[in-house]
Amino acid sequence: MKNEVTFTTNSEKETMDFGRFLGERAQDGLFIALTGDLGAGKTHFVQGLAKGMGIEGVVGSPTFTIMNIYEDGRLPLKHFDFYRLHSEDDLWNIGWEEYGEGGVVVVEWADMFPSLIPEESIHIHIVLSGEEERKITVSWSGKAPVEITKEIENYAAGH
Ligand SMILES: Nc1ncnc2c1ncn2[C@@H]1O[C@H](COP(=O)(O)OP(=O)(O)OP(=O)(O)O)[C@@H](O)[C@H]1O
Ligand SMILES: [Mg+2]
Repeated sequence: MKNEVTFTTNSEKETMDFGRFLGERAQDGLFIALTGDLGAGKTHFVQGLAKGMGIEGVVGSPTFTIMNIYEDGRLPLKHFDFYRLHSEDDLWNIGWEEYGEGGVVVVEWADMFPSLIPEESIHIHIVLSGEEERKITVSWSGKAPVEITKEIENYAAGH
């Protein structure tokens, strides 16, 4: 069985809707590794994810802060952006050991430090394929939580 699905979104709302779908179903310990070009829609995906988890506040881009934590939802959401990180040390210094697990962890530019990404992660790769069109590929290993991967397969089949 191929642990991968691809579908297309045609607006920022559709990408956020997929995020919301996962956020509504997210369990403690879920780790999502996001990759894709600048402006692909990674942060918009996370905005939808946060909504789905019941987070009310504005979810911005942690490009400069490296990490934002939201505690007002169903589970804590830890939103990282590795884009401006120069070394893994910077991440350990801001508390990766403490913050990089528990609740839901989502990392933009996860491919910058692949050794930090756990095997049970859900990988989401977004490709800019048009002005408002994005190809979203979701992949995972046999260690990923089965419930959420089934939901993802159902979602992809319907989109
Ligand atoms: N189908 C789509 N899905 C997501 N975003 C879209 C889509 N179509 C257009 N957009 C636009 O693309 C941009 C995506 O920006 P966003 O900040 O989410 O990207 P990003 O991948 O987080 O970029 P960065 O690498 O800089 O962090 C927004 O301006 C959004 O309105
Ligand atoms: Mg971003």
